[in-house]
Amino acid sequence: MTPSNENTVDLRSDTLTKPTAAMREAMASAEVGDDVFGEDPTVAELERRSAELLGKEAGLFVPSGTMANLLAFLSQTRPSDTLILSGESHPFNYEGGNVALVGGLMTRTIDGPLGMMSADAIQPFIMKSADHHFSQTAIISIENTTNRGGGNMYSLETIAGIRALADEHAVKLHCDGARLFNAVVASGISAADYARDMDTVCFCFSKGLGAPVGSVLTGTRAVVEEAHRFRKLLGGGMRQVGILAAAGIYALDHHIERLADDHRRAAQFREALESIPEISFPMPTPTNIVFLDVPDAETFHAEAEAGGLRLVNTGPGRFRAVFHLDVDDDGLEKAIVVCKRAAGKCSQGSAKPQPDRSN
Ligand SMILES: Cc1ncc(COP(=O)(O)O)c(C=O)c1O
Repeated sequence: MTPSNENTVDLRSDTLTKPTAAMREAMASAEVGDDVFGEDPTVAELERRSAELLGKEAGLFVPSGTMANLLAFLSQTRPSDTLILSGESHPFNYEGGNVALVGGLMTRTIDGPLGMMSADAIQPFIMKSADHHFSQTAIISIENTTNRGGGNMYSLETIAGIRALADEHAVKLHCDGARLFNAVVASGISAADYARDMDTVCFCFSKGLGAPVGSVLTGTRAVVEEAHRFRKLLGGGMRQVGILAAAGIYALDHHIERLADDHRRAAQFREALESIPEISFPMPTPTNIVFLDVPDAETFHAEAEAGGLRLVNTGPGRFRAVFHLDVDDDGLEKAIVVCKRAAGKCSQGSAKPQPDRSN
């Protein structure tokens, strides 16, 4: 795929951000050591701060959200157990089937609005039985905010309901919080409050927080120690990685509150296009992710690209636009103009199925 140039407004993902000059400076001046020996003070600081923010005992810096989720599952299940998660969730759709290959896990997917699950929806699928026929449910994973659910977030009541169900059946609860801070900023609910009912929570520095790489998995010290063992086993032990952890620390200090700007722009983008007859919005837009449906995806996509606007085609007639650190108000205006023009070229009623690449 062609890289974007400086005139392109690239809304394909919030992973596309480039580190700012100040973030690069923080990285360049980071104190480092060999983290496999446990001697990188910047990594230790990032893990400590992340755990504290989420009200957990310990944190582990890992290269990706994918690895953070996988480590959460590996360290809280046994091969042949079942993982319950939304059929729209990132681990089910976009993590290469790693839980099957590496964890030996069965998955049981649950349908629900906006990529979310409720205790009522999960309850019939929990399996804890002495009968040897059955794979045992070991863990439930929720996503907050939901990527394929339009950046929507769980209510604390729904989370509490799932926690009660998990407790009743001695099942663990994990949160894929790749965009947890988007939920925090949009709802006013603290990260610790979102994390309270979870056994493990991970979040990403490489999405809306604008760092080039990295995620943290948090939980009890015992679970994080187990995850640490699996991180090494998977080749995720990194050496003088304080350079990257420094970007994460910078992001915690400077890039959380500003997520509100991304949310405002996402809302403005949607509002400006709501009156366009060819465009409809299948989901609410509380944070930085906007899904839009158009009747002629091929024409719309080609016109958007020709106008310098990049979106991801996530399914038949459906596009995703994600607002982030590298899109300012001029970028927003351009995105609106290009979308209006592209919609004007679409003929109604000719949606064509497209591959889904919305990871
Ligand atoms: C909700 C969610 N979870 C996990 C991930 C995986 O993160 P990574 O790309 O760092 O592996 C992503 C990536 O976009 C995501 O959107």
